Amino acid sequence: MKVVVIGGGGREHALVWALKQSASVTEIVCAPGNAGIAAIARCEPVDVADLDALRLLAERERPSLVLIGPEIPLAAGAVNALSERGFRVVGPTKAAARLETSKAFAKQFMQRWNIPTARHVVCGTVAELTAALRDFPPQVVVKADGLAAGKGVVLCAGPEEAIQAAGAMFDGSLLGSAVESVVLEEMLSGPEVSFFAVCDGETAKTLAFAQDHKRVGEGDTGPNTGGMGAYSTDHLVTPEVAAWLEQHVAQRVVDGMKADGTPYSGILFTGLMMTHDGPKVLEFNTRFGDPETEAIVLRLETGLLEILEAIVERRVNRLAVRLKPGASACVIAASAGYPGKYTSGKAIVGLEEAHHEAEIFHAGTAAKDGVIVTAGGRVLAVSAASADLPDALARVYRAMSRVHFEGMQFRRDIGWRAQGK
Ligand code: AMP
Ligand code: GLY
Repeated sequence: MKVVVIGGGGREHALVWALKQSASVTEIVCAPGNAGIAAIARCEPVDVADLDALRLLAERERPSLVLIGPEIPLAAGAVNALSERGFRVVGPTKAAARLETSKAFAKQFMQRWNIPTARHVVCGTVAELTAALRDFPPQVVVKADGLAAGKGVVLCAGPEEAIQAAGAMFDGSLLGSAVESVVLEEMLSGPEVSFFAVCDGETAKTLAFAQDHKRVGEGDTGPNTGGMGAYSTDHLVTPEVAAWLEQHVAQRVVDGMKADGTPYSGILFTGLMMTHDGPKVLEFNTRFGDPETEAIVLRLETGLLEILEAIVERRVNRLAVRLKPGASACVIAASAGYPGKYTSGKAIVGLEEAHHEAEIFHAGTAAKDGVIVTAGGRVLAVSAASADLPDALARVYRAMSRVHFEGMQFRRDIGWRAQGK
């Protein structure tokens, strides 16, 4: 069977790697892919936001299955465009992807379907927000309504900050283009957990739990990034909480979206905060998470192909998702300067030696004159699984010590919460 994977980061490298484990997968095309993916699949250049280009690629390759990694093509309607042509595609339609692409839509949906989340108001002007602030405690969160690659959320210590943040979102100075509405919500506190569920429009089933590390600095300090590392263990939530979340969050999303006439199919990624009042949803993403996926794939006992086929064939109710017991972890090696302006084109050495200890998924790399060089803010996602988290992390960090490029930075404390440090 031939599979096309859309995307070209660490997540897609991990997904291609997982698909390769299946004997029924005979060919994988990744578009656009990267220098690491090119070692295990054929890469084809494509602009993932260009629906015509994606359609042409599918018509040329005639795959049995298409998996879309990033949010940009989902937001543009890639699933609609490809399934209209008869292709089997894993991912939500444009309407269903609104759970990620519009924070206002997601909040209103959760309110209507009684899914636990922070109290909120959608505001169309600074004046509306200023008035709404009177009904909130001083600490609030202001969120731009739209995809913002992690930059559209501002945690505010008081009303002044909230007014300033909303003003910068409306006038375009914060995100480069003006937003039409913002979501004001109460600030919650507690540990965060990423919850992944497999959905086919009818049924939602738990895939895995993971935790990522969004801040650039150790001890969760400094600016937010696309993710500096992640881990997955059996102990992130109790079996009771896991069952509760599957029923009261993931299955409710699927039931609500079906009732609304926009069935949800694909991977549902729920960002949760475990508060004193129970789990609350911070956000939905309508795809695999990055870098959580680079950790999770190493724990999959059920084949990724089997999971994806259950989605497109609408038989998730009969799918048994099994993970290997134990833990896995992923640490990101990033370029100097990331998440700000970063350097590129630096030669990466030690990749083979590092691979003796761990899987090295490429996030932002390119091949130049036969040498693998850095080509992104996040460069490598180094991952390992083991019987327990300390051992998985030890393997990852041993691999990290063998790989090098000029300016390489990484966090040495991934998994610190789970290890009680
Ligand atoms: P989001 O993109 O909505 O997940 O927000 C990004 C990050 O902002 C989350 O991972 C949280 O760390 C933080 N965050 C979002 N909403 C809240 C909230 N209501 N209270 C506290 N922190 C939040
Ligand atoms: N790990 C967060 C994301 O994929 O958006």
